[in-house]
Amino acid sequence: GDAITVADLAQKLALKGGDVVKALFKMGVMATITQSIDHDTAVLVTEELGHTAVRETANDAESELLAHVEDVQGEQSQRPPVVTIMGHVDHGKTSLLDYIRRTRIATGEAGGITQHIGAYHVETPKGVISFLDTPGHAAFTSMRARGAKITDIVVLVVAADDGVMPQTVEAIQHARSAKVPLIVAINKIDKSEADPSRVKNELLTHEVVSEEFGGDTQMVELSAKTGLGVDDLLDAISLQAEVLELKAVAEGRASGTVIESSLDKGRGPVATVLVQQGQLNKGDFLVCGVEYGRVRALFDETGSQVQSAGPSIPVQVLGLSGVPDAGDDFVVVDDERLAKEVAQQREAKRRELRLVQAAGNRMEDIMAQM
Ligand code: GTP
Ligand code: MG
Repeated sequence: GDAITVADLAQKLALKGGDVVKALFKMGVMATITQSIDHDTAVLVTEELGHTAVRETANDAESELLAHVEDVQGEQSQRPPVVTIMGHVDHGKTSLLDYIRRTRIATGEAGGITQHIGAYHVETPKGVISFLDTPGHAAFTSMRARGAKITDIVVLVVAADDGVMPQTVEAIQHARSAKVPLIVAINKIDKSEADPSRVKNELLTHEVVSEEFGGDTQMVELSAKTGLGVDDLLDAISLQAEVLELKAVAEGRASGTVIESSLDKGRGPVATVLVQQGQLNKGDFLVCGVEYGRVRALFDETGSQVQSAGPSIPVQVLGLSGVPDAGDDFVVVDDERLAKEVAQQREAKRRELRLVQAAGNRMEDIMAQM
């Protein structure tokens, strides 16, 4: 990356070198006037000093990559909704996902064993719907903190025999701050203790108002155990998706987000990605977080090989140089050179940042002992 000495930066800012050293020290970076600091640190300290940082040369691989993304133009067409299921512990999130998966996905060539991948898509009479199997609210929040916007609709599962609980309220807040519409799935209505109207009343106090009360939130009563009402939920999702008018460019270089990843003994790094723009094809070169590679194979949620995947479709990718992080973005590029260059630059930046953080931590330790 591009580094700058503290003295040069001070000169550009018309400040004394010592003032920049002091500001850096406050940020936990120990540097003398003659030492170089990396681009990100320079930007941070510049802003810390009340100035605005403007990049002089934007001619590195990263901006070439950006140009690649912006280059993907063309007709926006309708894309399927991406749905995340949230709710309080034991209210039936996994049961609901499993029921939909079991009844809606025909198992592929993997011999009837549906691999558990973190996302899947189903076809309904009203269109395709993709579901994300996020392990919890924490994952949702951290993806959002990293700027990854992947969910279009949150399905909030509330058990009809238990009602609104702390994590129900938390999920409402998450959806609200992410500006993602909610659909309420009032679950476990097969139970004799089930009291759906109590749930609706409790939700009222959190300003989640059902359509029958004059509000705009769809609420569906169902049982993830018997399957009663599950089709109504799928209809409600399709209806909400129509209202949202979800669009994406369906052709051209793909980009999207990593949902989950792992290192497989036989297959190497495996990443489940959600395609958000374009078409991801077997044979494509891509950058994925600090990793890169050429797509060796693509698999759908049934374990069947596919040749390509378009917007809103989750797919497993083989062929990456290493295991990316959930929430990392991926971008398809024309050639391996650019993919490698961007990945290596990112890796170098990440390493520098770690060093800076480590230095900061050490300094905090020293100061704590003083
Ligand atoms: P966590 O992942 O632990 O937060 O729970 P969860 O929300 O995924 O709930 P899960 O699907 O594991 O269901 C919790 C329990 O409720 C299990 O014993 C399910 O069998 C049961 N359950 C889920 N849905 C229903 C339903 O519709 N009816 C009945 N009777 N039981 C259900
Ligand atoms: Mg669960």
